[in-house]
Amino acid sequence: MIDETSLAALFEAARAAQASAYAPYSGFAVGAALFTVEGGLHAGCNVENAAYPSGTCAEAGAIAAMAAAGGRRIAAILVVGPGEGLCTPCGACRQRIREFAAGDAVVLVAGAEGVRRRFTLDELLPASFGPGNLAGGAT
Ligand code: THU
Repeated sequence: MIDETSLAALFEAARAAQASAYAPYSGFAVGAALFTVEGGLHAGCNVENAAYPSGTCAEAGAIAAMAAAGGRRIAAILVVGPGEGLCTPCGACRQRIREFAAGDAVVLVAGAEGVRRRFTLDELLPASFGPGNLAGGAT
């Protein structure tokens, strides 16, 4: 689980990244921040592209920052989007998170006012395929 102080730090980091989002095509600014199991905090934003499919999600940016810093295990990730809806990670990002997270990893979905929903990765990506499957065993 994640304590309130860590949750506040995660939310603030995601909000700061959201403010730097490059989303001129969708106008949909997203920020993401994650804690590694060691306590490292990494954030990212969506970065769109004139060639639309080349754009990247906020979660992908946060995961790239984590990997570049040597992090390999996600304990919790928070995604914050605009508007009233739930900015749940897209399918591809659920799989990106899966690469570095156990099924009980926490996925928090937030809006400007704070966290709206809390999931486990297993809830968002049941019966998932991860590194352990490639090795022929359990994950
Ligand atoms: N987006 C994210 O960055 N993360 C999500 O969880 C959902 C969607 C981005 C992709 C695109 O730049 C914009 O939001 C609209 O889909």
